[in-house]
Amino acid sequence: MSARKRIGVLISGRGSNMSTLIDACKKPDYPAEITIVISNQSEAPGLQIAARSGIPTHIIDHKIYPTREAFEADLDAALKQAKIDLICNAGFMRLLTNSFVEGWRDRQLNIHPSLLPAFKGLHTHERAIEAGVKISGCTVHFVRTEMDSGPIIAQAAVPVLPDDTADDLASRVLEAEHKLYPLALKLVASGEAHVENERVGFKKSQTVHGPYIAPWFD
Ligand code: GRF
Repeated sequence: MSARKRIGVLISGRGSNMSTLIDACKKPDYPAEITIVISNQSEAPGLQIAARSGIPTHIIDHKIYPTREAFEADLDAALKQAKIDLICNAGFMRLLTNSFVEGWRDRQLNIHPSLLPAFKGLHTHERAIEAGVKISGCTVHFVRTEMDSGPIIAQAAVPVLPDDTADDLASRVLEAEHKLYPLALKLVASGEAHVENERVGFKKSQTVHGPYIAPWFD
């Protein structure tokens, strides 16, 4: 296997998606390793989880910076110092400037708990239920400057049941997120996925084998 890609994970809170990436990276044939976890929130529970796995953690508290640019300059420096190849945003609750996003173009992934481009932003599950959609899900995409947009790498769908509360739907989607993010990162880190004309294509041809997680690789 060629060298594993070095991953920096950005979090702001619980870190359950980060945990699934940490677990995936423990597999010997997984094409990535997490070399740093950075949080903009000093109290983020995910920091403890990462530390317990022996991953270096770093707090860059946006509140102490006078501007978004100053915060991002330190974030960028920390990622570069850790020599990372790819950034995975995993519940990272900061909007990033065009300059930062372009600096990591096609090297920064994000997970969002809806089938994008539907329901960008916050309160996705409340809005999905309110809209009466019958299927929801999650999306891993490359980051672009506009919030929750960018070439889609992979998506997973889940049913919305008639009596679902937002919490019910959130937990069903989160379970799908935990399968999807490791798959999407693997596709990118292995070089299987590539961006062309702002769409993600795959080297391998796809075969349909199930209705819920795409791309449809065996
Ligand atoms: C997830 O639902 C993710 O899709 C969204 O924020 C939540 C983060 O959860 N961007 P966790 O911190 O990974 O548990």
